[in-house]
Amino acid sequence: MLALVTGAAQGIGKAIADKLRQDGHQVIGVDRQAGVEAQLDLTDLEGIPAFIDQLPECPQILVNAAGICLTRPFFEVEQPGFARMQTINVQAPLVLIQSVAARLVKEGKSGSFVNITSNSAFMPKLEQLDYAATKAALISITKSAALSLGPHGIRVNAVAPGITNTPLTQGIAQQRADIRGVSPEETLAPVVNALPLKRMAEPHEIAEVIAFLASDAASYVTGQTYVVDGGQWMR
Ligand SMILES: NC(=O)c1ccc[n+]([C@@H]2O[C@H](COP(=O)([O-])OP(=O)(O)OC[C@H]3O[C@@H](n4cnc5c(N)ncnc54)[C@H](O)[C@@H]3O)[C@@H](O)[C@H]2O)c1
Repeated sequence: MLALVTGAAQGIGKAIADKLRQDGHQVIGVDRQAGVEAQLDLTDLEGIPAFIDQLPECPQILVNAAGICLTRPFFEVEQPGFARMQTINVQAPLVLIQSVAARLVKEGKSGSFVNITSNSAFMPKLEQLDYAATKAALISITKSAALSLGPHGIRVNAVAPGITNTPLTQGIAQQRADIRGVSPEETLAPVVNALPLKRMAEPHEIAEVIAFLASDAASYVTGQTYVVDGGQWMR
């Protein structure tokens, strides 16, 4: 099957692309960075439908993994930063869902979409107000899309990772270190020590759950968010 994975140049997106290839799928990796099949900046929302329409074949698996996180104190949250996160974390996944689904429906094909949100949607972390808000919005979009696309044989689910060993996490640790005047390691250690599993996730551990949701093994699962965070958040 053909899969499209955004954010595939590094981190969780790269791990998903690798896993889907191992499982025998063809993968189109999308990223603004080089090293993928399609290098494009997802802030160009108008370009997304045309990009999907020109593909020789329509992907039946879509994984929205590209995302950004700005970390700053509550009173320093500013509109341009919030708007940029909104565009990349919320609007681009929605436009991709709409574009791929429109083509699948036209071609009479089924599909399976997985959005990468965060456990921050349920338990916002300090200094990440608007990141958490975008990830909560993506869960809502997951449910609405599942409602509308279920009758067309398209399932839509989400995975909510906790702290994962990727360049994003290193960047957040550095931003927190700058705010608090400590080392990046000092910002990470208390978080990791408070986790039941006492360690961060590796990207492939998140990819396993995404691959399950994307596969026919999850054929009766839609509109759900699977939390994969080593037990950091429990309900
Ligand atoms: N790392 C974590 O601890 C963690 C926890 C919870 C959720 N997440 C989510 O998982 C997803 C992947 O995170 P990660 O840790 O692998 O991040 P990462 O920064 O390591 O990788 C993200 C990728 O997305 C790409 N990207 C960002 N903006 C883009 C744009 N405008 N156009 C195209 N590509 C763009 C980047 O180039 C990068 O390759 C994100 O949605 C993130 O919010 C990560």
